[in-house]
Amino acid sequence: MRILVTGGAGFIGSHLVDVLIKNKHKVCIIDNLSTGLKENVNQKATFYNLDIRDKKILEIFKKEKPEVIFHVAAQINLKKSIEDPFLDADINILGSLNLLECCKKYGVKKFIFSSSGGAIYGEAKIIPTPEEHPTHPTSPYGLTKLAIEKYLDIYHQQHGLNFIALRYANVYGPRQNINPEVGGVIAIFVQNLLENKPCIINGDGTQTCDYVYIDDVVNANLSALKSNAVGVYNVGTGIETSVNQIFKSIIMFLKLSPKKMYGPPIKGEVQKSALDWKKIRKELRWRPKIDLDKGLKLTVDWFKNNN
Ligand SMILES: NC(=O)c1ccc[n+]([C@@H]2O[C@H](COP(=O)([O-])OP(=O)(O)OC[C@H]3O[C@@H](n4cnc5c(N)ncnc54)[C@H](O)[C@@H]3O)[C@@H](O)[C@H]2O)c1
Repeated sequence: MRILVTGGAGFIGSHLVDVLIKNKHKVCIIDNLSTGLKENVNQKATFYNLDIRDKKILEIFKKEKPEVIFHVAAQINLKKSIEDPFLDADINILGSLNLLECCKKYGVKKFIFSSSGGAIYGEAKIIPTPEEHPTHPTSPYGLTKLAIEKYLDIYHQQHGLNFIALRYANVYGPRQNINPEVGGVIAIFVQNLLENKPCIINGDGTQTCDYVYIDDVVNANLSALKSNAVGVYNVGTGIETSVNQIFKSIIMFLKLSPKKMYGPPIKGEVQKSALDWKKIRKELRWRPKIDLDKGLKLTVDWFKNNN
């Protein structure tokens, strides 16, 4: 198939592109390299260094004629979304609408969206949280994810665009960003420990979330590509793990014994979360296959070899 991946130079997008290319799809990428890296871009993909808000993306649709869009690009910095909600909405909402209008114009069949379970449910009453749980975003970033899901529903009703929104848990694995603003806690801890730098645990470290390995997330996207379903699906493991536990496991794999250091809690951080994945198991036949021990080992090994 002819496939367009936005954010294909980033952590999740680049892994997805690699597998799509391995599966013989013709892939093009739109990424402005704001947090992504050129070195992540698969050589066999056509790369457009462009912002998703740019009107020139219409020309890319005209030329590449994509049948399916994986919309992975986003402003992902939670703190920035609180400080500058205009910029966040501009990239995440208007950028997505720019893509949706191109889909409408060029008759794209399907839109697979990288949404966020962690950012949409807020402090949930039921854990693991199912899709029908009320949503209560605690940041503009989470709200933009929810807004795009709703726009997708409207484009489906009004223009027949099929869509799947994948509400990811906390994704981790090789190539994840180590920048404290946009990176994941696992990538940041592993890199800091390898460089003998301190790891700061925000709050008391008992806050939990659901960690899902990158290969499982890529497989969820492939299941979405194959399926005729339309709707929103959680992509997680259903298991809560605390930051203290993550730290303990990483130092065990690295055979280190640094002192734990605690910092102030992050304002607005959800204290407990895990996603129920029964719906995606039943309807898209997806299940997480890599448990945290295996995923952490794969991640630690990758960071060790890429330092
Ligand atoms: N990593 C996670 O734990 C997680 C959890 C839930 C949802 N998500 C979602 O998954 C997606 C990918 O996240 P990631 O962790 O790979 O982040 P990432 O920063 O590695 O990837 C995002 C990519 O989008 C690109 N980008 C950003 N703004 C752009 C713009 N205006 N125009 C074009 N390209 C732009 C960046 O350069 C980058 O390559 C995001 O939509 C994010 O919200 C991630």
